[in-house]
Parts: sequence; structure tokens; C-alpha cells
Amino acid sequence: MSVKKDRENWGSRLGIIMAVAGSAVGLGNFLRFPVQAANNGGGAFMIPYLVSLLLLGIPLMWIEWTAGRFGGGFGHGTAPGIFNSMWEKNRFIKYFGVIGIFGPIVIFIYYAYIESWLLAYSFFSLTGKLSSLEGQAGMQSFLSAYQGLVSNEHFSGIGTAYLFFLITFVVNTWVIYKGISGGIEKLCKWAMPVLLVFGVILAVRVLTLGTPDPAKPGWNLANGLGFLWNPDFSALKNSKVWLAAAGQVFFTLSVGIGVILTYASYLKKHNDVALSGLTSASTNEFAEVILGGSIVIPAAFVFFGPEQIVNVAQSGAFNLGFVTMPLIFQKIAWGSVFAFMWFMLLFLAGITSSISLAQPAISFLEDEFNVTKKEAVMIFATVTFVLCQASVFLLGHGVVDELDFWGGTFCLVLFATIETILFSWVFGIDRAWDEMHSGADIRIPKLYKYVIKYVTPLFLVVLLVFWLLQQGIPTVLMSGVPDANRYFILMTRLVLFGMVALLAVLVNIAWRHRAQKKTT
Ligand code: ALA
Repeated sequence: MSVKKDRENWGSRLGIIMAVAGSAVGLGNFLRFPVQAANNGGGAFMIPYLVSLLLLGIPLMWIEWTAGRFGGGFGHGTAPGIFNSMWEKNRFIKYFGVIGIFGPIVIFIYYAYIESWLLAYSFFSLTGKLSSLEGQAGMQSFLSAYQGLVSNEHFSGIGTAYLFFLITFVVNTWVIYKGISGGIEKLCKWAMPVLLVFGVILAVRVLTLGTPDPAKPGWNLANGLGFLWNPDFSALKNSKVWLAAAGQVFFTLSVGIGVILTYASYLKKHNDVALSGLTSASTNEFAEVILGGSIVIPAAFVFFGPEQIVNVAQSGAFNLGFVTMPLIFQKIAWGSVFAFMWFMLLFLAGITSSISLAQPAISFLEDEFNVTKKEAVMIFATVTFVLCQASVFLLGHGVVDELDFWGGTFCLVLFATIETILFSWVFGIDRAWDEMHSGADIRIPKLYKYVIKYVTPLFLVVLLVFWLLQQGIPTVLMSGVPDANRYFILMTRLVLFGMVALLAVLVNIAWRHRAQKKTT
């Protein structure tokens, strides 16, 4: 196979580690993780979480870094080309790779919008708006009006939210346009340290809260941490808890999406993948377990007490982030500054993830159609801008949940299963193991050779079957979906199906051109 035009490269090793860690560290670490842990057995959740991290998360990290670098050597930065270079004889495998471009686009079209709320809330923290809102009801009605779901004294339309969405979209587009080392790497190299520093400051602030209300001695930090971490071992018998833990590991590490394949494709042939993959995963786990686990739930406990905290945890990640946390900041000194740090931390975590979600589509256009970066970014921005309108205007109709189901859950497990089987069984574990160690700065324990060959694929297949039975089929059949939303959900599915079909046609065209070129 011929090597195509020169592709970009990362400027430094720290740069790609920060970029992959940036993709991994996102809203999932600070909002999704504590909610999942609190609702699924507390400290006991950490057992399936750790098992999934060791048997799925870290192996997938290594698989994606290795396969990405391998495919990049043939000029391919996305799954269709990468899968094809790993299994050249098979004519169909490239079509399975479509999931690795489709999934990230689907996540991008709602993620970018949610990210824009964080920018807006950082602004509202500084202007003092958030500190002037009264109680849970006041905070909730502000959020609903901002989202355009209701009209009240705060907002009478979606205008403000749209403005912040436009700014966020333009910033994302600009960073991607500036390229791998000039845009993504540059942003992640300062955004990641800033984000981690903000995270540490917030965690220290929460961990030194003690007992804020002496009249309620039980509402103290130790009990707050206990609420999150005390193990309820009976939860381990529940398959739902295992599914939740594995799902969290996928989402938080950004594995099974397709983005790490793309980032790694810009490595040079002998750049290390073993230590770098492990370092990016470890950075993510520090941000998730240490920082994410120390902020929202313990803080909510000491201010709202043991009875309320159950409702708070069950009210979901958004409520926790946009309603509960600003209420907590109202109760502490320098609250507006801490609120700004909180929302800016989440915004930076969000943008370093969303640019990674955009990159596969850009690389696909550049690598397989030989278009320039500028053209690729223009096509991507136009298409996703149109698609994002659904997230903005149909938020109240379940569209974002539907996109999250397909892009953020279903595709991840399916894609990870396909790539793992391809890597260990078709490409072959011996070849794969050598490839993983080419230029490596550490030797991966030999045990992992067997884990990657047998345990990870088996775990993934079992997970896929359980997940399909417990969550997949009921969601596909729209059980529990209000009648008023069914039409919107069906339309969303139709558009998503059209996207998959279009991407498959594009793959077909690209490979036909390639074949024609070879014969002329
Ligand atoms: N890994 C990213 C997150 O945790 C998508 O939000």
C-alpha cells in the first residue's frame, strides 16, 4: 500500500499525552462518575470499576494507541483505513470502521451544545447572576429558561444560549483548523494543567469544609465521603452495577469511540505507545477518582444532609452540576470565584474532549479524499452546525438522550468489540504485541498478552449481550418514551441512519478511487 501525502505530527510527547488525557478528562469525570458511584453501591462500585479499568479500559487504551499508530503509517487516521490496513484481504472490514467516524460526530452534536452552557455559567458566575438566584427552585427555573424550555423573568427565548453556543462552536472550529500541533496540542498543553489546578483547589476547598453547620453535627465531611465511598457489597450481585461501571470506564477514557485511534495515527512509527497510553489513562483516573470523587457528592452532603443527598444523586449529573453546585457556592466565602473555577474547569474539560470528537471526521476527509485542512474543516463545520440545531431546539423532546444512546453508549461497546477481535485475532496477538512494544519505553506485563487475547474480547461480548438485553432493546423499542416525543426520536433515528449510509458510501467511493489510481 502506498504512503500518501505527508501527514501532520504531534510536536512533542507531552503534547499527545495531554491531548489524549484532554479527550478523556471531560464532563464524565466530574459529573457522571460521582453520580454513577453514589447510585450504584458507593464504594462497592469501585470493585467492578477497577476490574473494568484493568480488563477493558487500559487494554483498549493500548489497542487504540497501537492500531492508530500502525494505520497512520499507511496514511490512514480513521477506523475504515486503519481496520483495512490491519486486514487487507477483507473487503468489508472498512465498513465496520464507519462507526469510528459516525460515533464521534453524534457525540459532538450534543456535547458541543452542553459545553456552551458551561461557558455561559462561567460568565454568569463572574457577573454575580448565579449568586443572586434563590433556592433550588430559583436555580432550576434559571436553567430551564436559559435552555429555552420555559420563558420567565430570566430569559424569554433561546437567544443567550444560542450566542454562547455560537462562540463555543467557533472556538472549536478554530482550534481544529489550526491543526494537530498548532491547535489541539497547543490548547491541551495549557488547558489541562489549568483544569487540574482548578480541580485540586476545589477538592481542597471541599475537603476542608468540616461541619459547616454546628447545629447539624452529622452533616460533616467524613459522612459525606462515607456516603460516596462506604461499600454496599450486595450491589455486586446486580448486573446493572457491572454494566454501569463498565460503561463509565468506556465513556471516561474515551475508548471505543474512535478518537484515540485518530490521535495516535499522527504519531511517528517508533514513538512510544505503551507508557504514553498508560500515562494518559492514569491522568484521567486521577482526575476522576481523586478529584471527581472529592467535589460534588461530599459538598452536597455537608450542605444538604443525608436525606436530601439521595434525591440530589438521583436527580442526575446535570442537576448536580448546574443546580446543586451553584447553590453550594452561594453558601461559602468567595463563592463566585469558586463557581467560576468549577464551570471553567468543566468548560476546559469539555472543549479538550469535543475537539477530539471532531478530529476523526476531519482526518477522514483529509486522508481519504485528499482535501485540504481548510476544506475539511469547512465541510465538518457546516454539516455539524446544521445537526447541532437539533440539540439546541429539540432538547425538551428527548433528542439529546437519543443521540447519547447511539453515539455515547451503543457505538462504544460495539466498536470496542470489533476492534479488539480484529486486533488480537485477525491482526494476531503476536504481531500486535510486537507492534505495541516497538519504540516502547516500558514492557507491558506479559499477563496482558493473554488478557488482550482472551479476557478483553470475552468481557466485551458478554457486556454487549447483557447490555442489549437490559438497556438496548427497551431503548430501541422506546419503552417509557412519552407519546409526544416519539416522532422526534424516530426522525432522529432516520437522520442517524442516513449518516451511517452516507459514510459507508463515502468509504466505498474513496476505496474505488484508490483502486483506480493503482491500476492507472
Ligand atoms: N471522555 C469524555 C468525558 O469523560 C468524553 O466526558
